[in-house]
Amino acid sequence: MRKYFIAGNWKMHKTASEAVALATELVKELKGGPNKYMIAPSFTALDAVSKVVKGTNILLGAQNMSTDEQGAHTGEVSVLQLKDLGVQVVILGHSERRHIYKEDDAMINKKVKLALSHGLEVVLCVGELLEERESGKAEKVCEEQTRKGLAGVSAADLKKVTIAYEPVWAIGTGKTATPEDADAIHAFIRKVIADMYGKAAADEMIIQYGGSMKAENAAALLAKENIDGGLIGGAALKADTFKPIALCK
Ligand code: 13P
Repeated sequence: MRKYFIAGNWKMHKTASEAVALATELVKELKGGPNKYMIAPSFTALDAVSKVVKGTNILLGAQNMSTDEQGAHTGEVSVLQLKDLGVQVVILGHSERRHIYKEDDAMINKKVKLALSHGLEVVLCVGELLEERESGKAEKVCEEQTRKGLAGVSAADLKKVTIAYEPVWAIGTGKTATPEDADAIHAFIRKVIADMYGKAAADEMIIQYGGSMKAENAAALLAKENIDGGLIGGAALKADTFKPIALCK
């Protein structure tokens, strides 16, 4: 049985003190909650939030990391630095990284392998642009991002990977994929995983949905067979809007 994995991606929001306040509220509200949880604050708040979530049922996530362990990479943050702060999970290949900052699949794959080699869990994001969906290429794009993102990842390491399907046109737009459309892509991604790693690994793979997920639509999305959680942006920025999603069973 796959357990829901509900994660908040706080993106470039909140000062360290605001992040601590939200994390403190979530620790209280989600204590004993039925699902797996993660919150991913900005780098600048990781240290402070780490102290709040340590020893709780909320994992600490980072939103990105460098392709390299250390060195001359001005402005980047390394896996060693994240681990030092208690980070347990890293989001990689987010559409904002792919499209605004031009990260390609090779770069994302390098990050995925580096994170896994240091024992971090990875949330690998995949998803198509609106024009790709409209021209019938959604599956092709998701397959390519999945295969290239996971190239060279062992079956043992795959257990530490979650895939987040985030249709780019649904992110921060208020438009959500219908539960049926999302489930169809999730099922397709699971088929790709089965082809790469076998059916047992595919059956275990947690595939989150992301893109304007909120209290009003979460239950219907999560009820679908292949939707195993959510990667939530806007609705993760307040305990009141995150909690109803996080407590879905
Ligand atoms: P929204 O929930 O704000 O659409 O963001 C989704 C997302 O990109 C999470 O990573």
